[in-house]
Amino acid sequence: MSSSGEAELLHTFKGISFTTRSSPELLKSLDTFDAREDDVLLVSYPKSGTHWLAGVITKLYNTQVTITSPIEFGDISRLEELNKLSSKRIIPTHLDYNMLPPNFKNKKCKMIYISRNPKDTAVSMFHYYRDNPNLPTVDTWTAFFDLFLKGNVVCGSWFDHFLSWEEHEHEKNILFLFYEDMKKDLPKVVKKIALFLGLNVSDNDIQDICKKSSFSEMKNDTEKENSDPSHTVCALTSNRKLIFRKGAVGDWKNYFTPKQNIRFQEMFNEKMKLSKM
Ligand code: A3P
Repeated sequence: MSSSGEAELLHTFKGISFTTRSSPELLKSLDTFDAREDDVLLVSYPKSGTHWLAGVITKLYNTQVTITSPIEFGDISRLEELNKLSSKRIIPTHLDYNMLPPNFKNKKCKMIYISRNPKDTAVSMFHYYRDNPNLPTVDTWTAFFDLFLKGNVVCGSWFDHFLSWEEHEHEKNILFLFYEDMKKDLPKVVKKIALFLGLNVSDNDIQDICKKSSFSEMKNDTEKENSDPSHTVCALTSNRKLIFRKGAVGDWKNYFTPKQNIRFQEMFNEKMKLSKM
């Protein structure tokens, strides 16, 4: 990773790297956040399909909800801003379960966790690091691969993030989704989300939502949009044009060397031995 003048892009809080777009004061005050019972959290490790899921959820609700920017994004004034919102809030976050404001847990708010094959997540994040001025520069895939495996990337280790949430998978207010299932059968996943959120949606609406949520439609919409810097679903950028890269399953095969694949698999087997994944 190149170091000149970039050290200030990241800081560490409770052992996890955050960009300076998440101020230490805000992170410290998250525990005091006042959740509402009807808040819905949209949770992900970066590059897992957060924007895709946010697009589906916005279309499912149609109106009357606000997708806020991530709870960990901004400075200390952030919590006050969220408090002032009068509409139902859909709140994205990349936070580890242990860092989530306790109020969301106590009030049993609905939470949707989206996950993706970590190998594809790593490749997607590598490109994000390269294209996103809010993140340090990485020179090569090999260098990034090492950082990712060690968890020395923004939002920390993929394994720790996933495991912290998977431990709560059985809780009724938490829905676990996989990017690959959305790719395979989007209508089925959209129906599952609607059921979980208690929304009555017709089959025609589902078809329409799926059509409008395809990779090409979402990418086109973004290219037509005038970028609103306050409109951000990811705490690492407000530039939606950086999000829609390839939208494929299995792109890791174009990057991982056989040796890297073995190293990754060994780490996966070790870290995930108690996981159901
Ligand atoms: P790639 O970089 O592999 O293309 P996030 O929203 O969490 O930042 O995740 C971004 C990833 O989701 C990117 O992956 C992006 O292309 C993919 N993505 C976004 N919208 C999508 C869609 N409608 N269909 C499929 N993949 C999508």
